Amino acid sequence: MQYLYDLNDPKNFIWPLEIKTPDGYIGEHQQTVLFPEGPRRHFCMTDSVMHTTRPNTGVHFHEHVVGYETFFVDSGGMDIYITGKKAFIKPGSVLFIQPYQAHGMFFHEDVKYRGFFHDLPYAEGGDAAKMLRTTNPDFLNDPEFPKDKAPLNDFAFREPPHSFKEVPPEECAPIRHRERPMAQFELDGAMFKMLTGRWENAGLCELWCFEMKKGFYAESYKYPVNQDLYYLTEGKVKFKCYAEEFVAHQECLVKLPMYAPRSFEVLEDAVMYDVGGLPRWNDYLTDRESVLALDPERAAKPETLDDMRKKFGVHYREFGVR
Ligand SMILES: [Fe+2]
Repeated sequence: MQYLYDLNDPKNFIWPLEIKTPDGYIGEHQQTVLFPEGPRRHFCMTDSVMHTTRPNTGVHFHEHVVGYETFFVDSGGMDIYITGKKAFIKPGSVLFIQPYQAHGMFFHEDVKYRGFFHDLPYAEGGDAAKMLRTTNPDFLNDPEFPKDKAPLNDFAFREPPHSFKEVPPEECAPIRHRERPMAQFELDGAMFKMLTGRWENAGLCELWCFEMKKGFYAESYKYPVNQDLYYLTEGKVKFKCYAEEFVAHQECLVKLPMYAPRSFEVLEDAVMYDVGGLPRWNDYLTDRESVLALDPERAAKPETLDDMRKKFGVHYREFGVR
């Protein structure tokens, strides 16, 4: 079982893909890192470099009808055209796109673009799609290939955007940033910030950013009920999963299977995103704050917060500075 995926190590890349414009310009180099899992096709991840958009080609505008896309814009600068607005996205931002939200991107330079997906029928076709990609990686650029039968068929193409009003990023709801979380909770040694809500992800997951100080520690229950997927953008975190120990640094993914007892300890101040987002962090942290303020006597009983964590699938029994 692989727990650690360093995005700067090519051995973690599968399904290399060059996505070309009709005249042959390579607009995107895409690498799949994680295949989707389960009926909601969760835990799917691609690591792309989006190449500079040429001014004369216009913006490729499209929407999805079932899939959700969460992109980390990790370098470079780009414009997004979405819901009637145009806005500049700076590195360190997260672009969150829901079904029927038509979107088009203009890349001012090469952009490291890390995508996390759910509900997107990315690998429909299973082994047949894998064989096709392996034996004929350029199939999408072949005019004979029936596009409506493509493994990723959740695309509806739209007319290029026109007269979209330019706004600052904070006025464009799909652009999220840890500078402006939807909710935040201060814990001992860490700030937990919510970037997307469960109600925005059709009930499946939420997106959190954990800003953690050196020494912050978390330990799971013996049988964690969720798989975790973390994306580290700053700092160093030491993990233990079953008996195995390893250190994650920036631009690493950490994938920890359900039932696997785990802990982590921050070695250098870190910024880590919970991109799996299965625990109901928002419900737990909100109710925890309420009971701490409204009924401190009840909050002080160890079973109170323990029961609350179990109720909301928060599979860590301890977090704070040791
Ligand atoms: Fe898209």
